[in-house]
Amino acid sequence: MQKKIINTIVLEYSFGELPEEHKLLIEEAKKQVFKAYAPYSEFHVGAAVRLANDEIFAASNQENSAYPSGLCAERNAVFYANAQRPDIAVKSIAIAAYTKGNFLKTPITPCGSCRQVLLETEQRYNNDILIILYGLEKTYIVGNVKQLLPLCFEKNSLINKTD
Ligand code: THU
Repeated sequence: MQKKIINTIVLEYSFGELPEEHKLLIEEAKKQVFKAYAPYSEFHVGAAVRLANDEIFAASNQENSAYPSGLCAERNAVFYANAQRPDIAVKSIAIAAYTKGNFLKTPITPCGSCRQVLLETEQRYNNDILIILYGLEKTYIVGNVKQLLPLCFEKNSLINKTD
């Protein structure tokens, strides 16, 4: 038996400590929460994606009375960016959440399905996506999506390794 330990490195910043580039992306994500359609959860999420050419595409969560038909802010933002600029890698994504009249003190992290979609984008362009998770009291930064989804199912998993 071998024990394998998989590490995720999370850097914690105060807002003031962040580089301007990340502050700006967070501001774009924060603006989006006010455009969310979240009448069921009343949990408003904004996500802003920065591409390698520094263009920004941002979106919010969009819910539906048939609950699973809605979609998270992260997937809306990354699909929007990939649909508009299919040849340009994603460099970073900022995420902010707002409920009951306030941004959350502690950052939220993307759900499992969003991690899977972000991982595909990271691998599609062979370019790490920096994950910037905003909270009023602290912001977390994770260096790439792979760290948020260890032991993942990916493109290579489809190859029959018994051949
Ligand atoms: N949601 C997001 O948009 N992103 C996340 O990272 C977590 C959850 C949305 C989905 C749903 O509209 C609401 O927040 C409550 O789960």
